[in-house]
Amino acid sequence: MTADGVAAGASPGTFRDRLRGAFAGALAAASADGALPIAAGDVPGLVDQVREAADPKFGDYSATLAMGLAKKVGKKPRDVAVELATRLADTPGFSAAFTPPGDPVGPGFVNVRVRDDALAAAISAAFVDERLGVPLVARPESIVVDFSSPNVAKPMHVGHIRSTVIGDALARILAFRGHRVITDNHLGDWGTQFGMIIWGWKHCRDDGAFAADPTAELGRLYRLVRNVADAKPEDLAADPPAADLAARHPDAGREVLEETAKLHAGDAENRALWQRFMPACLADIERLYSRLDVSFDHWLGESFFQPFLADVVADLERRGLARESRGATGIFLDGDDKPPFLVRKADGAFLYATTDLATIRWRLEHWRPDRILYVVDHRQGQHFDQLFRTAARWGLPGLDRVALVHVAFGTVLGDDGKPFKTRSGDTVGLESLLDEGVERALAVIAADEGLAEEERRNVAETVGIGAIKYADLCQNRTTDYVFSYDKMLELKGNTAAYMQYAVARVEGVLDKGGVDRAALRRSAPAITLADPKERALALALLRFGEVLEDVEADYRPNLLTAWLYDVAGRYSALYDALPILKADEPSRTSRLALADLTGRVLRKGLDLLGIGTVRRM
Ligand code: ARG
Repeated sequence: MTADGVAAGASPGTFRDRLRGAFAGALAAASADGALPIAAGDVPGLVDQVREAADPKFGDYSATLAMGLAKKVGKKPRDVAVELATRLADTPGFSAAFTPPGDPVGPGFVNVRVRDDALAAAISAAFVDERLGVPLVARPESIVVDFSSPNVAKPMHVGHIRSTVIGDALARILAFRGHRVITDNHLGDWGTQFGMIIWGWKHCRDDGAFAADPTAELGRLYRLVRNVADAKPEDLAADPPAADLAARHPDAGREVLEETAKLHAGDAENRALWQRFMPACLADIERLYSRLDVSFDHWLGESFFQPFLADVVADLERRGLARESRGATGIFLDGDDKPPFLVRKADGAFLYATTDLATIRWRLEHWRPDRILYVVDHRQGQHFDQLFRTAARWGLPGLDRVALVHVAFGTVLGDDGKPFKTRSGDTVGLESLLDEGVERALAVIAADEGLAEEERRNVAETVGIGAIKYADLCQNRTTDYVFSYDKMLELKGNTAAYMQYAVARVEGVLDKGGVDRAALRRSAPAITLADPKERALALALLRFGEVLEDVEADYRPNLLTAWLYDVAGRYSALYDALPILKADEPSRTSRLALADLTGRVLRKGLDLLGIGTVRRM
């Protein structure tokens, strides 16, 4: 045991794990003696249907598997449920009152209650466990998480928040579960945006401005040249300097592409400029990452893979996968009459696809991962579909064992239901987005007189940025969501501010009572759960490991936010109804322990989402 009063204990697995194991045993036995003739291969899919009960009135866990199974074995769902419930009646830790025998509910649910003594023992163990009762995965994997990956040299904007925040949360959660996680920021540091700023540098740079603030000057050049090169009348009308430049350089679009091509071909001047610009581009995004508390193990951007691209194409050709098509080279994934997945353009340039193929090969050789997750906007769905299909045919050693997953997410929308833009129609810069969140948080917490100015600023930073992250993470990631500062900073409802406030409130009780939390843990009390509200809270706290397993299964952090919100609600219900500091023993100690554990669980849950907490707000 450590000074904190916690120890690394081997967790026996979550209740759901134990229950699923028992169901697997019952199914195997019922299959062996012919009562339910099922194939062994069906068992995992069936026991997956053992889940938290939708309505606590029917029990703590519930299995819906009898319905589907009944069809397969030609019996009534109810009879199948009875068959299983009877076999499960003596499962240690679970109540003998497995329904349905004699129950009034449902056509074929098997409903289960956790025994009170088993629940009290498990919560007492979680209380002194540094992992808060969360088991490690049985089979740890090596998982690459490719996330954030912005195109540098353009300002990061609101579109980058989702990949950054979701990817970071997934990386934290997978690591906490016991996987070996490798995070990689696959920067877009080689694209046409460099042609734009190189062209801009050559024709209209402001040396003084670059010396004073390189990033700002590069950003200005990027925006200016983009309008010049695109030469859309409406953009030029709104941007007089660009219009002026476009009039003087009618060929700007082509020249910009030439600058990019020269960079890629190794032109000394353009290479030198690229090398000069990169540090400024990186400093800019690193400042944002540090504010967001996001870090990466690797920053292997597109430029890193350039030396390998020619060989990748040659290898694909050698294997007869890629072939020529009107001067370009591609892989015909859907037959000869459908457009191929291009890996080399007619002018010899390589593409995004080529880099991604080289990246897969490099990752396989150097990291031997079991899984590679790409946390990228859903609009790149077709790219990843073609990339993965090409990879599957490529036949590289190890490719058959690796799961390639596009963890896609929807678009951030404004109030008007269109992609989130500033009033003037520009995409919203990430920096100003964070600033505004923090300013607004300041207004929300301003009411608290007790905080000194400096502390208020720090609290506002944690609350404002936490709000932005949480608002994103609590969405179903595949759908679009509407960005609203007002909603995300509400102190009620499923928001970061509410959760952070809940932590402060839980810990406030312990502070107020002058409780030595470490000493309380060292005393390893046997927690009693006499009141239904204590029981409900304990049961929810013990689901932490189950929830993280579900997050991993679908890469859905919103399952974690929903559960944290539920835990906070159950604690509130207890706090509002029952005395804690003024309770008699043994309830007092039990409730203090529950409060302590709730605080640690909420804090850890938020930490896994990359969200900080504060002592007071
Ligand atoms: N740079 C790309 C973009 O901003 C995202 C890269 C995602 N990762 C990858 N391996 N393709 O759209």
